[in-house]
Amino acid sequence: MIRQASIEDLGAMRRVCVLTGDSGRDATGRWSDDGLIPDVYLEPYMRYPDRLAWVVDEGQGPVGYVIAVADTAAFADWWRREWVEEFVVRHGPVAADEDEAWLFTGGTQPERMVALADLDAFPAHLHVDLLPEAQGRGLGRLLLHTLGGELVSRGVPGVHLGVGTDNLGAAAFYRRLGFDEPAPGLMTSPSERLASA
Ligand SMILES: CC(C)(COP(=O)(O)OP(=O)(O)OC[C@H]1O[C@@H](n2cnc3c(N)ncnc32)[C@H](O)[C@@H]1OP(=O)(O)O)[C@@H](O)C(=O)NCCC(=O)NCCS
Repeated sequence: MIRQASIEDLGAMRRVCVLTGDSGRDATGRWSDDGLIPDVYLEPYMRYPDRLAWVVDEGQGPVGYVIAVADTAAFADWWRREWVEEFVVRHGPVAADEDEAWLFTGGTQPERMVALADLDAFPAHLHVDLLPEAQGRGLGRLLLHTLGGELVSRGVPGVHLGVGTDNLGAAAFYRRLGFDEPAPGLMTSPSERLASA
């Protein structure tokens, strides 16, 4: 049911990303281009050579995923070298409007990732999304537990993530799994705690 993601899963994973991309709700039509959100929060993680990615697949293709990188600073360097140009080809050099400026600069300014958390203690970061029909069945917990085991085996001390301050369900989920909330919208966990979640 949970397996490692491959690049062939990207299309289905992009769909999950859009259908959950507006603080957990369907983001279709929310921004000027539905491709924007997966081009910031999904595809670069899948293109990254050292990707950590698992999907939930019950026989019909991915209905959810966790994606992560073990070393956020190294990933930001790679993004600057390898992804910004592709992102600009897809979306242009400037945001289409003010509403999507924050999302857009996520694509063009990867250094933003490096400033979010204490990277000595929590160098990894993750994104997890499940379609509504896959939610509430323990699969989010299982995905994060799987990732936590891999981080522990790699000797990565901790993981962080950003959560929209209006995404109350996701924040409750992370707290339930033992994450701390050192600042609004920032959640952190030692890898070992995640592995035993
Ligand atoms: C957030 C998300 C990943 C959680 O995954 P899930 O499979 O639904 O959660 P699980 O069934 O594994 O729940 C694990 C625990 O968290 C709790 N939990 C999950 N969602 C919750 C919610 N909305 N409110 C309160 N608690 C919640 C569960 O009750 C469960 O606790 P228990 O073990 O004591 O029963 C999933 O709902 C999702 O993908 N949502 C939409 C996309 C999204 O918001 N992603 C996060 C972006 S930061």
